[in-house]
Parts: sequence; structure tokens; C-alpha cells
Amino acid sequence: FILEIDPEDTDKGAYPYYMLKEIDEQAVVARKIAGHYFDEDGNLQGIPCAVTDTIQEADRLYIVAAGTSYHAGLIGKRYFEQWAKIPTEVHIASEFAYDQPMLSEKPFFIFLSQSGETADSREVLDNVKKQGYPALTLANVMNSTLTREADFALPVLAGPEIAVASTKAYTAQVLVQAILAAALGNPGFDLKAELAKVAVEIQAITDEKESFKKIAESALKDQQSAFYIGRGLDAAVALEAALKLKEISYVQTEGFAAGELKHGTISLIEEGTPVFALLTQKKTAGLLRGEVAQVAARGANTVVFASESLAQDGDAFVLPEVNELLMPILAVIPAQLVAYYATLDRGLDVDRPRNLAKSVTVQ
Ligand code: G6P
Repeated sequence: FILEIDPEDTDKGAYPYYMLKEIDEQAVVARKIAGHYFDEDGNLQGIPCAVTDTIQEADRLYIVAAGTSYHAGLIGKRYFEQWAKIPTEVHIASEFAYDQPMLSEKPFFIFLSQSGETADSREVLDNVKKQGYPALTLANVMNSTLTREADFALPVLAGPEIAVASTKAYTAQVLVQAILAAALGNPGFDLKAELAKVAVEIQAITDEKESFKKIAESALKDQQSAFYIGRGLDAAVALEAALKLKEISYVQTEGFAAGELKHGTISLIEEGTPVFALLTQKKTAGLLRGEVAQVAARGANTVVFASESLAQDGDAFVLPEVNELLMPILAVIPAQLVAYYATLDRGLDVDRPRNLAKSVTVQ
């Protein structure tokens, strides 16, 4: 039985909540993005030369965003630096707007936004336009303020996202940044083929809902706080994973670079404290294993999501393997599902967490 889902459809259909529908749509969205940005022969399309030419003239990229989109930017930075060889900074819009850092001589701005309407990001775009710098918006909602007011705009193609907690827009933003970086440089592998694999593996993970339901119910039952740790790209995913869990379940969750545990946070570990570890990066896998052991020795309930080649007995879930730089797209999905089921288990409204809005149009 294959559930047909259309990411453009704004009906919940058989789903109890939009969030679950949107999590499930991620495989379809990945295919849609690949179909839009690659032709049948595997050549990139859909990115005007004016965009790549203008970026090639820049000496530094500045990615500006808020919330989940900021977290997607932290992943994108790797692609722009490693594949396109352009130094890249990622900034929180509300900070950049009032404390503009020293800029390089030829900056190029990339605004990442699901809605295209976030006031903090709009403020920065206004400021940089006044200074005469070129800007590109990557947005899910085209014909939004940020897409209209930037020099260039490219679609993120996640389809309407209705749940307040962003899921498919995050993975779509990561994918589109990878494609843009590939258009500017060379990933060193067949990105189109790898994206096809990513779509298959997203599906494989979302098919394992029962596992994440069990993990959420056992690890987070009666817990007031939790941690997500990782190193390298996994540290960036840990921030997004923690945001997902805290914003809808109200479990106070910190996400951070695992090496920082010893500089303070480890004092918070008590008997049963849930510590989720994301382990997909080879270079630091050994160090991260050490950190998992250290918190376990202090009573933490450790839950490891590891990629296949790095997995060990006792890990909670083995992530299928794709190119290591694309692993964030897979690593975030267990966290989305854990957040969803933990929230459901607490009897809360998954789609409409208290105090939050889907699009924040005030500064
Ligand atoms: C709100 C939403 C978040 C989103 C953030 C930035 O806080 O609840 O999910 O990440 O705004 O929004 P944007 O539309 O600019 O991505």
C-alpha cells in the first residue's frame, strides 16, 4: 500500500496532523526538487546565469535567515565552502539587522525563508539593498516580499507547509542550497544520482514510524529536559532537532556541539536524562562515541541515531547511508518524528504550539 501524497495539496487527508503529512512528503519533495533543477541528462537547469555569474564575482556569501531556515543555512555553508570554494557566513536575521558585522569587499547575500515574509529578514534585505549589495532569496513561497525585493529568487519547492513546526521546508532548503553550490562548483560526485538515493532513503526512514514512536514514548516520558548532540554537520542538525522537540512538546531541549558538553552542560545530566546523539560524520565519530559514553556513565539515557557504517550494537536507529555531506537530510527525520510522537503522547496540538506563529511578520 503506497499512500499517494501531493505536497501541493493543503488537505490533511487521512493524516491526524499536517506535521506528519509534511514529514511524509519529504521524499516526494526531494524528487520534485531534483526534477526541477536537473534535466534528463543530469545537467543542472533552472538557475539563471545571472545568479551564478553574480555569485562568482563575490568574495564571500552571507546567508541570512531565522529559526529553522537559519539552521538550514548552517548546512548550506558547507556546500558553498566545500563545493563552490566560496567563504560563507551564516547569520541570524534579527542580529544582523542591528549589529551588522564587518563585511568583505564583495559580499553576496542569500536570504533563506520558508514564508518569504519574516520581518527580521526583510529588515536585513532593506539594509543591504541600501548599501548596494546583490541578494538572492531562496523561498518556499514565491511571490513573497523577500522574493520580490531581492535581485534574484529561486524556489525551494516544498509545497505549502501548514504545521507551525517546519519540516519539509528545512530539508528542501538544504537540498536547494546543495544544488546551487553544485551549480557554482563541483561536489565531486553525481549529485543527481545521489539525490535520487536520498529520496529513497528518506522514504525508508519515514516508513519506520513505529520505531520513533516507541523511542519518543520511552525516552521522553515524564522528562522535562533533553539534549541533542553531534559534531560537525551533526552539531548543526542537533540545533534543528532540539528546536523541533522543544517548540511543540515543550520539553526544554538544548542542541549543541558535543565537544562543548565538558565545558558546562554535562553538569545537567541526571539519572534518565535523555541525550540524543546524531552520529553521521566519520572524522569525529570516535570522539562523539566518547561523549556518549561520558553522559551514559553519569546516568543519561542515550539514544544514538548513527549512519550504517558508524553504527554499533545498542544504537537506537541505523540511518541509511548517502554521501556524508547529505546526511543532514536523513539525520533530521528521526528528530522530526520523535518530536511529533512525544508531542502526541503529551496530548498537545502538534500543528499549533502555544505562543508561536508560522510566519513572524513583526520584528
Ligand atoms: C517562524 C516559524 C519557523 C520558521 C521561522 C522563520 O518562527 O515558526 O518555523 O523557521 O519563523 O521563518 P521563514 O518563513 O523566514 O523561514
